[in-house]
Amino acid sequence: MEFTFVMIKPDGVQRGLIGEVIGRFEKKGLVLRGLKVINVERSFAETHYADLSAKRFFNDLVDYIISGPVVAMVWEGRGVIATARNLIGATNPAESAPGTIRGDYAVHISRNVIHGSDTVENARKEIAMWFPEGTITWNSCID
Ligand code: CMP
Repeated sequence: MEFTFVMIKPDGVQRGLIGEVIGRFEKKGLVLRGLKVINVERSFAETHYADLSAKRFFNDLVDYIISGPVVAMVWEGRGVIATARNLIGATNPAESAPGTIRGDYAVHISRNVIHGSDTVENARKEIAMWFPEGTITWNSCID
C-alpha cells in the first residue's frame, strides 16, 4: 500500500479549510494515518523545500510556510500519491481545474493552500522528516 505526505499551508489553515481538505480526502476513500498542527522553524522549511533553493521565489516560499501553523498529514491508499495530487490540482491555481482544492480555493501560485508529495521517494523522505517520532508505521490499515 502507498503513503503520501500532505500539508495544509498557513493560508489554508487561516482560511478555515482544514475540515474541507480532510473531508475531500476521506470522501475519496483515502485513510488518514498521521495528523498534527505545527509551526515549523525556518531551517526545517528550507530543508523541506531544498530542491527549490535555487529558485528566485525560495525565500518568499520559506517565509510563507513559517508564517503560521500548518497541518501535516500522512494519507494511505492505493495510488495515493497520484490520487492526492489529483484532488489538490495543478501547482498554479490559475491552471488547476474547478473541483480540485486549488481550483476551488486558490488564485495565486505563492498562496496555493496545500502541498502533496510528488513521488514515492519524496513521500518517504517527507513522511520521515515530518513524523520522526515513529508514530507512522508502514504496515497497511487497508485490506
Ligand atoms: P508545493 O506543491 O508546495 O511545491 C513547491 C511550492 O513552491 C509550490 O507548491 C508553490 O507554493 C511554490 N511555487 C512554485 N512555483 C512558484 C512560483 N513561480 N512563484 C512562487 N511560488 C512558487
